[in-house]
Amino acid sequence: MILPPRKFTNPRSKHNFQGRTCSIISVGSYVPSRVVTNQQLAVIVNTSDEWITTRTGIKERRIAGKGEFTSDMAARAATKALERARISPDQVDLIIVATITPDMPFPSTACLVQQKIGAKRAAAFDLKAACSGFIYALEVGQQFIMSRTYDTVLVIGAEKLSSIVNWSDRNTCVLFGDGAGAAVLQNRPNSHGLLTACMGADGSQADVLCQPGGGCRIPVSHESLAAGMHYLRMDGKETYKNAVTGMCSAAQEALRRCNLDISQIKLIVPHQANMRIIQAVADRLKVSTDQFFINLQKYGNTSAASVAIALDEALHAKRIERGDLVLMVVFGGGFTWGAAIIEW
Ligand code: ACO
Repeated sequence: MILPPRKFTNPRSKHNFQGRTCSIISVGSYVPSRVVTNQQLAVIVNTSDEWITTRTGIKERRIAGKGEFTSDMAARAATKALERARISPDQVDLIIVATITPDMPFPSTACLVQQKIGAKRAAAFDLKAACSGFIYALEVGQQFIMSRTYDTVLVIGAEKLSSIVNWSDRNTCVLFGDGAGAAVLQNRPNSHGLLTACMGADGSQADVLCQPGGGCRIPVSHESLAAGMHYLRMDGKETYKNAVTGMCSAAQEALRRCNLDISQIKLIVPHQANMRIIQAVADRLKVSTDQFFINLQKYGNTSAASVAIALDEALHAKRIERGDLVLMVVFGGGFTWGAAIIEW
């Protein structure tokens, strides 16, 4: 949607210096048209709509077509965001794509997006922080704006998780979906300013949620394929526990940095993994889930794309108005976590 400029003073930011601000000028998102419902999954694995709904809140997810790749979805979301901002692709200085499902190991998906959208002047690289990728990319993009290195940064979270999910493993295949979300960042003091973005990681639990094969540790071979090492693996219970703790502490850190109380936040846009995780985070932060924007019932967990798609839909749904404070909070494999506060 088009984001009208507003008077923006950014009084709380510790990152604002020399009159420079990092604002989200516009956002855009894209999900594939193919809908796969819980009932359809129950035909291919031993599961049910009742199990998936009660354990996760997910009802359906979008799955990309065979010829539709992460770079295609990223390019569509990016084009929407650029059009809404009335910024031409050749004004983009830098493209950051957060993804764990790149089109290929190299070149980066960001380079493919650069070509697809015609952003000829832009530098481009991928960033990997699993489900926390979009907030990591926002923080990195913000640094380039604040340091005056670049004026226009395109930040994208995009995933084709269906390509690394084991469709015969009911523990994981019901959880994920495909999609992309994008944001255009600029120094524009009268617009929607990023007050803070923070990120963290704990590599000691890397094996809890990972894709073991395909890198230099377990290169692709007949044996690795037969052992299913190229599929996403997850210890659901460990991920669940760490996600709740990590999202709560990331949210509290972002609030502390801005000297804000949670009651001052109009809308919380959390990583859309699981309704029970969101409920537990809400309970710990002592807020109602009404204060959260939730669309996981439609898309499942789209990893790095999740909060970007949710932010775009929250704007469309008019859940965010000028002057509102918005908290985005994420958690993912690595483990990684992060939070960002935007004064809309
Ligand atoms: N349908 C039916 N039964 C299932 C399914 C399914 N799709 N999946 C697992 N089960 C079975 C298990 O086999 C197990 O059966 P058993 O008792 O006979 O062994 C039973 O259900 C209970 O399994 P649990 O793992 O105990 O179920 P739990 O209540 O922990 O819920 C879930 C599983 C939903 C994965 C939960 O642990 C969770 O949400 N974890 C967080 C995972 C997540 O969101 N990951 C996303 C990536 S990280 C992130 O984005 C934050």
